[in-house]
Amino acid sequence: MAPLPSIFKKAALHVLILTSLYVLALIALTNPWLQRHVIYVHKIHTTWWHDINKPEQFGFAKNQITPFNFSTPDGETIYAWHVMPLGLYAKHESEILQQPSGCTGDITKTKAFRLLKDDPDSRLIINFHGNAGTVAQGWRTDSYRTISDGSSSNIHILAIDYRGFGYSTGFPTEDGVITDGVAAVDWALQVAKVPSDRIVILGQSLGTAVTAGVVERFAKRGIDFAGVVLVAGFTSMPDLLTEYSIAGYIPLLSPLKSHPGLQKYLTSYVVDTWESAARLANVVRLSKKIRLFIIHAKDDHEIPWTQSEGLFAAAANATTDGGLDVTLFEKMKARSTIDMGEGAFISTWKASENKIIREEILAYGHHSRVLTYAPVALAALKAFGLDEGGVLPL
Ligand SMILES: *[C@@H]1O[C@H](CO)[C@@H](O)[C@H](O)[C@H]1NC(C)=O
Ligand SMILES: *[C@@H]1O[C@H](CO)[C@@H](O)[C@H](O)[C@H]1NC(C)=O
Repeated sequence: MAPLPSIFKKAALHVLILTSLYVLALIALTNPWLQRHVIYVHKIHTTWWHDINKPEQFGFAKNQITPFNFSTPDGETIYAWHVMPLGLYAKHESEILQQPSGCTGDITKTKAFRLLKDDPDSRLIINFHGNAGTVAQGWRTDSYRTISDGSSSNIHILAIDYRGFGYSTGFPTEDGVITDGVAAVDWALQVAKVPSDRIVILGQSLGTAVTAGVVERFAKRGIDFAGVVLVAGFTSMPDLLTEYSIAGYIPLLSPLKSHPGLQKYLTSYVVDTWESAARLANVVRLSKKIRLFIIHAKDDHEIPWTQSEGLFAAAANATTDGGLDVTLFEKMKARSTIDMGEGAFISTWKASENKIIREEILAYGHHSRVLTYAPVALAALKAFGLDEGGVLPL
């Protein structure tokens, strides 16, 4: 056995190497191109071995999904999936089966599109996914089924891959990705002619930041939606980076917790800041009507659920003139919170019949799987007014 001092020397050397690597990584990340690759992870996906133009691979009925492209005003081509609800598919199966499969050049010619456009009761969820992968990655495909598959459901889904992701062209930036989201909503409003009160915008993880950015642009145009659902979100990118661990394991800036000054300095290098809390506050102020659902699982090891507390506080605060001090806010929130057991709870902030903000913290769900859990689908049903009706239950 080696004498103790040399073990200590070895350990010290390891610490020195790890620290140097960490510092070098942080320096490298001040490069915007590399930083965006780390934040968006758009090049990590499985289209090399799965052609996502064949959605049957992910368990969908043949032609239940129509892959198609649309363009953004700045010239990018965005790849999207139109997912039709299975119950509706069943009623038109033979006609749908006769149509060509794969990425369609003209979606307006498909039966699925006509069913979305011509039915005055059809509903549409526009889905903004998290970083990495494509519309077909991981729990995402399962989540489309949980959300839309009831036998009498007429809830369609539009899911997109942002620029630089999957088959979409370009390279992601905050402004670019929001432009893609806005273009998706414009497609729904202008091409599919679904009015905004039959549209819910749903985002998970990075997709919550996209949602906040997109909804803010529409609030500025005076357009409100049936509802907005944010799953596993965060208040801003700099805020998140001080707490976030990649895949739950590799910490970014949390090792520097004892040096807030240094953390702050390093976050000043973040190029895409995704200020969701501020954007949501703005949306709440500008909207005539808002149903905002903020959902997060307690056992999310990638983004701590307390980030959703921050989103709720910012949105609720914006329903008041001048804002509430933190103590008063906490008191009011406690009064409208119900305990769901095992640390789970629901808080409902009802500023008026037309402005309702709801935070639901779940005991289970992790970071991505939660998308497939009933509370997310239930939030969409409530936003569409397909629940027992009228007031949202506390
Ligand atoms: C959709 O866009 C991608 C990327 O530009 C392109 O490769 C593909 O051929 C397009 N598909 C159709 C049907 O136009
Ligand atoms: C609400 O906004 C005011 C004014 O910006 C701020 O002072 C206050 O701390 C905020 N309250 C909460 C609960 O965030």
